[in-house]
Amino acid sequence: MAQTKIWRMDAAGAEIYEKVRVPGEFEQLARMLLDRVAPERGHAVLDVACGTGIVARLAAERVGESGQVTGLDRDDAMLAVARANAPHGSAPLTWRAGDAQALPFAAGVFDVVLCQQGLQFFPDRLGALREMLRVLAAGGRFGACLWRSSEFDPFTIAAGEALARHVGQEAADQATYAFGDASELRALIEEAGFREAEVAPLTVSRRMGPPAESIPLFFASSGRLNSIYARLESGVRAALVADIAHAMRSYVSPKGMEVPRETLIATARR
Ligand SMILES: C[S@@+](CC[C@H](N)C(=O)[O-])C[C@H]1O[C@@H](n2cnc3c(N)ncnc32)[C@H](O)[C@@H]1O
Repeated sequence: MAQTKIWRMDAAGAEIYEKVRVPGEFEQLARMLLDRVAPERGHAVLDVACGTGIVARLAAERVGESGQVTGLDRDDAMLAVARANAPHGSAPLTWRAGDAQALPFAAGVFDVVLCQQGLQFFPDRLGALREMLRVLAAGGRFGACLWRSSEFDPFTIAAGEALARHVGQEAADQATYAFGDASELRALIEEAGFREAEVAPLTVSRRMGPPAESIPLFFASSGRLNSIYARLESGVRAALVADIAHAMRSYVSPKGMEVPRETLIATARR
């Protein structure tokens, strides 16, 4: 049974997310998602659960000045970073605070709706998918991605095992992914009313710095694990980082850690 994980970020975590996690993994994923969905010049695009805005920014380049892009997220800290990083010379970008399960837009106003690594956090995923369908124009394109189950991510396995050892099973459970099964995802998209639903696995490379630096930055910029990590005593934090670094040793080169991570990419149409 799929669970829901709560995402909460503070201002410092949102900055780290944009500076470290976006170039390390979310930007390459956003490019893959946009290649699949292929927004065109002049399109109106909605990025649901936009976070610090990487999908929206890249979409704005693709649709050009005649298009328009809206990013929506529930988290004020993530949106504040998105607002501060808007690019110049692309489609106009609008940022909206809001809940993916009750989109504050009229029906049929977007040509493309995207959602990168957001769906797993919505308590009512079917309701959110129905909302994304509602705001799409007839024939409009939908694209979403979410991490495949934790067993396909060596870093998540190592983090979960170290958290179980040093903090407890409840903390370890927060490290795993809530929803990452391809057939469940396709069934949900079809149940929401989309047509031509396709779901495919893809591998991205999680590029991190040296373990001693990058593991604490990972915790600080994880909306699921940041508050757990912040409460730990320094000795427990050090043991956690050392255990994960040890488990990840075969992925470390002089440039840092590089760990494969599998995602599901879903596309469909209204
Ligand atoms: C892993 S981040 C992904 C952010 C961005 N899409 C990216 O690729 O970098 C997950 C985002 O989902 C947002 N989120 C979680 N639940 C939400 C909800 N119910 N409505 C809108 N946004 C939500 C969080 O605030 C967070 O910014």
